[in-house]
Amino acid sequence: MNTISVWRATAPEAGFPTLQEEITADVVIVGGGITGVTLALNLAEKGTSAVLLEAHNVGYGSTGNSTGNLYETISKGIHHIVDQWDSDTARAVATARRAAVEQIDQRVRKFDIPCAFRRCRLYRYATSGNAQESVEREYQGSLKAGLSVHLEKALPTPLAPPSGPVLALDNQAQFHPQAYVRGLARQAANQGCRIYENSTVIEVDKDKRVVRTDKGKVTAREIVFATHSPKGVHLVQAEMIANREYGLAARIARNSFPSGIFWGTGVERLSIRNVDVDDATFLVCVGEEHKTGQENAKISLDRLESSAQAHFNVREVAFRWSAQNYSTADGLPYIGRDATGCFIATGFATDGLTYGTLAASLIADQIAGRDNVFAPLVKASRFSPLKGAKGMAEETASVVKSLIKDYVINRETTQLSQLMPGKGAIVEFEDESLAAYRAPDGTLIAVSPVCTHMKCKVHWNSVETSWDCPCHGSRFAPDGSVIEGPAIEPLERRFLTGQ
Ligand SMILES: Cc1cc2nc3c(=O)[nH]c(=O)nc-3n(C[C@H](O)[C@H](O)[C@H](O)COP(=O)(O)OP(=O)(O)OC[C@H]3O[C@@H](n4cnc5c(N)ncnc54)[C@H](O)[C@@H]3O)c2cc1C
Ligand code: FES
Repeated sequence: MNTISVWRATAPEAGFPTLQEEITADVVIVGGGITGVTLALNLAEKGTSAVLLEAHNVGYGSTGNSTGNLYETISKGIHHIVDQWDSDTARAVATARRAAVEQIDQRVRKFDIPCAFRRCRLYRYATSGNAQESVEREYQGSLKAGLSVHLEKALPTPLAPPSGPVLALDNQAQFHPQAYVRGLARQAANQGCRIYENSTVIEVDKDKRVVRTDKGKVTAREIVFATHSPKGVHLVQAEMIANREYGLAARIARNSFPSGIFWGTGVERLSIRNVDVDDATFLVCVGEEHKTGQENAKISLDRLESSAQAHFNVREVAFRWSAQNYSTADGLPYIGRDATGCFIATGFATDGLTYGTLAASLIADQIAGRDNVFAPLVKASRFSPLKGAKGMAEETASVVKSLIKDYVINRETTQLSQLMPGKGAIVEFEDESLAAYRAPDGTLIAVSPVCTHMKCKVHWNSVETSWDCPCHGSRFAPDGSVIEGPAIEPLERRFLTGQ
């Protein structure tokens, strides 16, 4: 199945060159999503020499596969921060996030970035009776966090009547995330940041402060991993869960759906919005979250489509996609310098357009030696076992379960001869277990199924034609090359004779 998000399909071209030389800078930023690009502009505005290296093109990662909503609260519910931490922490989170949304608003206006930015209301509501309690808890939590929430009786049409009152939060925002980051990247480049696309970092020497791509090398005083999950082995990976989520955009008549952020919770959890792109209007639905590498992607995407059809009489689905998010055990992101000496920005859950913007301000401040009031709360080296105990235990159990299941219990394997074109599967070949994919033209591509990050075994993702690791979310193309996640090295290639 061909998957691409409505944002990636409709964004203006970026068009930055590939790194082909050896250069130096004060800061090298790895990753050109909202975190990396915002940091690039922050540094350029202060005259700091910076280089940004993006493996694909600007906004290619989760930024270009998100829902494009910007809000002060957090999607899981800010009452979780009140419960796990306290009201002061929840207030600090909401205040910092409000400032980040405001910064985006100001930059869109200052640089006149055509990215359909608009202020709107956020609605949170229950779609079944048993979810009403969580809306009520979120109302109380929001008040404690200082959010100007109020309750409404109904949702605008054509949304189905909710099960109970609707929590409304005014003055939030929406935009076209990839158009925004590309506009921002152009500003950063105009102000002196050197940006390179199609420049995957394949080696990092943290001691010598050098990063290498296959054609070039950057030596810098500071290395920033703005790669969503930091590259290589970092302590925070043990406290994060990698999830995949699915999105679709269906063409609808203009003005047939109200503007706003609509979060329905209940038996199914859906995030819904509309967007006008050129002459077309799309309804965007996002949901069906599950742990990476642990569900059938095709079934998840089909379920999302069925929900959209059931609620909104959606006919033609124009775009389908999926993307990754990383959530932390204690509910707060990790931002700042970690034990490796590099800067990281991760654990944003599904709130990273705002957290990424905030992370960029925080890291720019730390590089310049300026104080940042939010920094101690989200520092990358924190250890908060009591706040994250349950999540950490669950995540450790999940990694251990994946290891045991895949190493001790033999995974179901397919006969190589029965592997159909376009399919991937774990196969046995000459006493070795292999991750094999048969391309549509019949070519067989086989790699080792052992993830190069920390040796869990990868699982086939039929929708995105990739090998996904259930432990920390590394994903690999059929030829073994890294798509995303903490792994740096590709899966080892195996060449089969006589196949
Ligand atoms: C379905 C979905 C919907 C979401 N909706 C929202 C939303 O509405 N609002 C919100 O706030 N958040 C949302 N999020 C979360 C948000 O999209 C992310 O948290 C955010 O985009 C992260 O930005 P980032 O810049 O840190 O990472 P990314 O956007 O993933 O950027 C990282 C970049 O690093 C590059 N990279 C990786 N490895 C290398 C390498 N070795 N060398 C060079 N470059 C490399 C990648 O190509 C990528 O472009 C959503 C997430 C999902 C999954
Ligand atoms: S991503 Fe960590 S073991 Fe695969």
